[in-house]
Amino acid sequence: MLGACFSGLPSLLQVVLLSWCMCAAYPVSPTPDLDVTPRITVLKSSLQDCRRFQSYAVNYSSVLLKADSERLFVGARGAVFSLNASDISASPALTIEWEASPEQKQQCQSKGKDNKTECFNHIRFLQRFNSTHLYICGTHAFRPLCAYIDEERFAMSSQIEEGRDKCPYGPRTGYTGLIIDQQLYTASQYEFGSNSDIRRNSPSPTLKTEDAPTRWLNEADFVGSGLVRESKSSSTGDDDKIYFFFNEKNQDAMASYSHSRVAGVARVCKSDRGGHLTLHKRWTSFLKARLMCSLPEFDFHFNMLRHVFILPGNKPQDTLFYGIFGLEWKNVKASAVCRFSLSEVQEAFQGPYMENQDSGSKWNAYTGNIPDPRPGTCITDELRARGINSSTSLPDDVLDFVRRHPLMSQQVQPSDRRPLLFMMTTDYTHMAIHTVRGLDRKTYHVLFMGTDEGWLHKAVEVNGHLHIIEELQLFEEGQPVSSLIISDKQMSVYVGSSSGMVQLPLSSCHRYTSCFNCLLARDPYCAWNGTQCVAIKANTDRSALIQDIQHGNRGCVNMLNDIVERSRSVRVGDDVLLQCELSSNLARPLWTLDGDELQGYGLNSGFRTGTDGLLIIGARQDQCGQYICYAYENSVKFAIVVYNVSVHLDLNPSPPVKQTDCAYTPAIMIPAPNEPPSSGESLPPPPAPLLPHSELLFPRNMEAMYLSLITILSGMCVVLTVVLIYVGFCLQVGSRGKYSLRAAAAVYPNNKGRNRNRKQQCNSSHMELKTVSSHCNGNGTCNGISAPHNADTQDGGFLQIVPGERHTPRNKEPPPLAPPIPPTLQPSSPNCEFPNGLSATLPTVLKRMNGNSYVLLRQSDADGMSPHCYSFAEELNKMLEKRKVTQLLPWTDESSV
Ligand SMILES: *[C@@H]1O[C@H](CO)[C@@H](O)[C@H](O)[C@H]1NC(C)=O
Ligand SMILES: *[C@@H]1O[C@H](CO)[C@@H](O)[C@H](O)[C@H]1NC(C)=O
Ligand SMILES: *[C@@H]1O[C@H](CO)[C@@H](O)[C@H](O)[C@H]1NC(C)=O
Ligand SMILES: *[C@@H]1O[C@H](CO)[C@@H](O)[C@H](O)[C@H]1NC(C)=O
Ligand SMILES: *[C@@H]1O[C@H](CO)[C@@H](O)[C@H](O)[C@H]1NC(C)=O
Repeated sequence: MLGACFSGLPSLLQVVLLSWCMCAAYPVSPTPDLDVTPRITVLKSSLQDCRRFQSYAVNYSSVLLKADSERLFVGARGAVFSLNASDISASPALTIEWEASPEQKQQCQSKGKDNKTECFNHIRFLQRFNSTHLYICGTHAFRPLCAYIDEERFAMSSQIEEGRDKCPYGPRTGYTGLIIDQQLYTASQYEFGSNSDIRRNSPSPTLKTEDAPTRWLNEADFVGSGLVRESKSSSTGDDDKIYFFFNEKNQDAMASYSHSRVAGVARVCKSDRGGHLTLHKRWTSFLKARLMCSLPEFDFHFNMLRHVFILPGNKPQDTLFYGIFGLEWKNVKASAVCRFSLSEVQEAFQGPYMENQDSGSKWNAYTGNIPDPRPGTCITDELRARGINSSTSLPDDVLDFVRRHPLMSQQVQPSDRRPLLFMMTTDYTHMAIHTVRGLDRKTYHVLFMGTDEGWLHKAVEVNGHLHIIEELQLFEEGQPVSSLIISDKQMSVYVGSSSGMVQLPLSSCHRYTSCFNCLLARDPYCAWNGTQCVAIKANTDRSALIQDIQHGNRGCVNMLNDIVERSRSVRVGDDVLLQCELSSNLARPLWTLDGDELQGYGLNSGFRTGTDGLLIIGARQDQCGQYICYAYENSVKFAIVVYNVSVHLDLNPSPPVKQTDCAYTPAIMIPAPNEPPSSGESLPPPPAPLLPHSELLFPRNMEAMYLSLITILSGMCVVLTVVLIYVGFCLQVGSRGKYSLRAAAAVYPNNKGRNRNRKQQCNSSHMELKTVSSHCNGNGTCNGISAPHNADTQDGGFLQIVPGERHTPRNKEPPPLAPPIPPTLQPSSPNCEFPNGLSATLPTVLKRMNGNSYVLLRQSDADGMSPHCYSFAEELNKMLEKRKVTQLLPWTDESSV
């Protein structure tokens, strides 16, 4: 239904619509597997265990590990480094300086190139050539050059080669290349204005792709490439194949697919020698197919491939291609991860061809006869038996067919025909995958994905879905991750950006301080050994370890002894905040008073709850007792902290003169969640209802039906509104058009991670108490809440709200931009800081606030929008506010807000 409503619309509208539908349908049907919230957020300032390398050079964009994984080679702008892979910050780092000469730079500038970015020697290629030498290519200020590096001496050979046919001219041109058996395969649009091309450069014969009469590649932008040794264990004597991944101009006639660019995969056979006359010095085995990555229920396509990672299997046939996909528009962020099996790709290449009859732009399925041997196949035993030992012996009709039919008709669909992960507001740029065996002896794929804002997401794939274990801030904002590589031997992941390299261990199990946290993390490298969360690899005795990757909630029991117990003594009428920090973005707090769950957190009840604690408003004497804060996550509930609160009448703060009769027992009784699914029934439903699902399409009851009806009606309103805005955008250009795009993207942050913003919201004085963050704990004043120093350790201390600040009406005024965090509030971690002491906390704040729809919508108000646009903004605003309330304060009576 919704899918049908989408098709035929311009894709830009689809994004806006998709976002609307997701918000509107949010309360109806939870789909926890899409638009995943990272469980843990670690800011750069609190990042431990990391090691950094920085130098005078910038743009650390190519990486290579030495065969023994002892050294990491890094290609940057104007330099190549050899770093100690076990600790990249350890000196000495060996350096080869290779910058273009001033004259060359001058020439580059006179060609009209940008002397701040393009007129340098960007190392674009860095790979092993043979057992002793590496091969590198650099753009060399728009005159590409290549050279060998002696690995042991780490010195460049004197012989420098022309790089024009191997390396692109600029730093941003799509490019991929690899060396196989000392033959160099590269794919790029080498010179500006030339046709994109896949080449085998050496040794002769040099092979290329064909441009006439049918152009095999259409303004292709290459993303990645890889060899699959399909000759190994092949029963047909098949050849090894090289796969190239790219985006190119859309040539399809299919109307359902309206994008201007599409993702594709091409392949060639390694033993291809080209044709004898026809296709002389051209590939005879070139075939390409479309790569699809879409949300089927929305008919929503992620058309741009950003990165691929080729994961070898035990057998070549088990090879998997993981792709990061995104959207065409620069100001709409979204990513999807799709996984393709080699057999799916092979199936497309063995299926029907497409044809382009009049050399026009339309491509249609070819239905005529196919010559024999099948065009585009490698030389196999069968062909050899027929006397065709090499591609040069292939018949002319076959080669002529190859020349005219490069495109396959079948599209390559991802496993399960849907993405493993779908992420709004995040653009992933790079990915690397590590396989690890869990305690359950199953093999897990752990994905490390870098974002365009310098973050690293670590995710584990379980049953076709990705669970994001953590998001780590590695670099300051505005620094996209530009390289990523994993060393199994060093158990490290290395991440490059424009300013430097970071080395991180594959896991930081000590980050999880309780059994439940260790378990819920679902980190395949970590397990609970009874006292702490440890790395499995280092542990020999596995029998005592607890881990549950499959469900992430089974194994931990009775954590009574570890719970922090605190006392609070307050005066009648005071406002008291009982802090309860949940480390997980997926957890929700639950409070009990003397064993009874606190119900109806409205103003009348005298309680308010938020993600950081429970607020007792105007304490009454009957509110004394034992408060326990539980975290509720993934159907398990576990205690975090216990407060013994006494309320007394006297105005003289200390010592408390008249204590109320508040008897509390120090012993805590915690119901052990033996059977999590059943215990979950008495609990409120878990968080993370994020996407409408099939339930929306097939309502099971009237309520759902009404809601979907409302959704559709409002969706239609939005379509109208958006169309108007869109038209306005087309006619008037400028900030107005940008508004509609940004608004669409901005819908998400609050939609998904109700907790994700809390660390940043800490700094907004207009925020209410739930936004008190860990940054403020034990650090004195924050947001108008005055807390004594080290409130954690000072039992009986007072926690007061400064009057006037707390009455900020929540629905009237969207919060303004957050002021910067005072420097004193930033936890310091010398281990991970750059030498200059730069900290990334401030940019993060801005980053998160930028993704905050309130801010963006507010900005558009100020632009003096038309009434129509204004109401749209209002509408979104209201909707977001409403959702925020239901998310943050699930039990709050709305009238009390
Ligand atoms: C190289 O680094 C500079 C400054 O750090 C940055 O502005 C630029 O975008 C980077 N270029 C590439 C190609 O990454
Ligand atoms: C690399 O660093 C490690 C740890 O700092 C050190 O033990 C090792 O000797 C270093 N290797 C080299 C080749 O410098
Ligand atoms: C780039 O060129 C401009 C003039 O065209 C000059 O002013 C500037 O200093 C140059 N920048 C660099 C880094 O060479
Ligand atoms: C590797 O290639 C380089 C450059 O062509 C050559 O000098 C060197 O001898 C080769 N090494 C081996 C072991 O073949
Ligand atoms: C093909 O190779 C086989 C053995 O490698 C050889 O006997 C045969 O003569 C070759 N045929 C041609 C046409 O080159």
